[in-house]
Amino acid sequence: MTAVGIDAIEIWTGKLALDLAETFAPAKDENPEKYTKGLGLEVSSFPDTYEDIVTMGANAAKRLMDRTGLEPDDIGRIDVATESAFDNSKPVSTYIAGCLEDVYDGDFHHANKGERKFACVAGTQSIDDAYNWIKAGRNRGRAALVIATDTALYARGDPGEATQGAGAVAMLVDEDPSVVELSTDQGYGSADETDFLKPNQQFPSVDGKRSVQVYLARMREALEDFESVAGRTHPDDYAYIPFHTPFPGMVRKAALLGFRHMTRDTEIEDGLADEIGRQPREADFEDWDAYEDAIREYMDALKETDTYDTWYARAIDPTLTLSRQVGNWYTGSIHVARASALKTAAETGRALSGEKLLLGSYGSGAQAEIHSETVVDGWREEVEAFDIDEQLSRRYDLSFEEYGRVHDAHNHEKERELEEFTVPSGEFVFTGWGRMNERK
Ligand code: CAA
Repeated sequence: MTAVGIDAIEIWTGKLALDLAETFAPAKDENPEKYTKGLGLEVSSFPDTYEDIVTMGANAAKRLMDRTGLEPDDIGRIDVATESAFDNSKPVSTYIAGCLEDVYDGDFHHANKGERKFACVAGTQSIDDAYNWIKAGRNRGRAALVIATDTALYARGDPGEATQGAGAVAMLVDEDPSVVELSTDQGYGSADETDFLKPNQQFPSVDGKRSVQVYLARMREALEDFESVAGRTHPDDYAYIPFHTPFPGMVRKAALLGFRHMTRDTEIEDGLADEIGRQPREADFEDWDAYEDAIREYMDALKETDTYDTWYARAIDPTLTLSRQVGNWYTGSIHVARASALKTAAETGRALSGEKLLLGSYGSGAQAEIHSETVVDGWREEVEAFDIDEQLSRRYDLSFEEYGRVHDAHNHEKERELEEFTVPSGEFVFTGWGRMNERK
């Protein structure tokens, strides 16, 4: 059976930066550590006023095509995952294809285009669609371009404001991939939830505290469903476990839940028994609340152990390095987490070919998906081609007052002022509603 997976990745960050400790916290009269330690975020990426989901997605895709030497004829499918779409009819992929057609000789007339929506999990769902399309033999030897692009903005004053971000991740899904091979092992946890939604509105209505609980509940269900397909998971089976990262503090909670689940009835639980006791078993409790309290108490003790600390430092912390510097990219977030882990492995000279990753994707509304991937030869060259560090260091550092103007420029209810903070160079730019994008 031919291997199918991710063959190439490119990341495009919004070109402005808001420092949470230096700029945001003083303006909000908050302790900076609430953001840096509590949420785990240092900087948010913002789009300059000439950037939007189309330009960021098209710029990431163009870099990917140029680097891998692809022409439009090599691509049979373009899917865009976003929760920041501005058109309820035309998919964002058509706008992006239009940009790309302006700069390549060929066109995408015979490519299947679409837009996937299920909040942040849509990026992973688009990869699943591309995988299924190739496995079904409908690709005619062509690859699929998956672009996860979002401007993750909240209304000013919303508690989510500290977790904003903007950027795009373009991924090529193809046969004989060079980064990761996808497997058929997948699990889902899904329920109709209303903690985070945007019914015909630009900024989300969020019940932040509840959204955290919903994320954890769906993730636990997805892990159980994954195990029903793949068998019991063990924390040492995976080199890295990237989770959807609205902010690293959320991942801290998800990782603890996952570790507790994966270590039950293992030598790890046995080894910790003298220090923190055994995991509470539901059968030993008369009511659910008492059982939940006991689990919480166990987890509080578990997270203080060296065993957990060592595992977290190895499997989770490397997935968060980029996220701390860019904030939430919604559909792109889990793919930034994977990229972050691979980048750390390359920088530390770690041999990764043949090792497995376990990915926990999540979309509000709500659905979690757990799936596994295997890192393949070629990953290191791909990851070494990332220029994300350079992009991050080139971002313009916003003052709080400038941040307000940028937020207004991206607010659809306000007049869009095209005041530029950085100078575009060889990239697609937003030029106003209508034809919208051109290359400068
Ligand atoms: N030093 C260290 N830590 C501090 C601190 C300080 N001085 N002050 C506060 N903290 C800690 C708090 O204890 C808390 O940590 P715990 O959750 O571990 O207790 C953390 O910092 C955040 O503080 P608050 O809970 O007081 O923060 P808040 O209420 O202002 O906002 C939030 C938190 C509700 C999650 C808000 O950021 C939000 O609404 N975010 C958007 C929704 C979101 O991202 N939800 C995540 C799940 S849904 C999802 O994942 C989809 C998606 O992409 C949106």
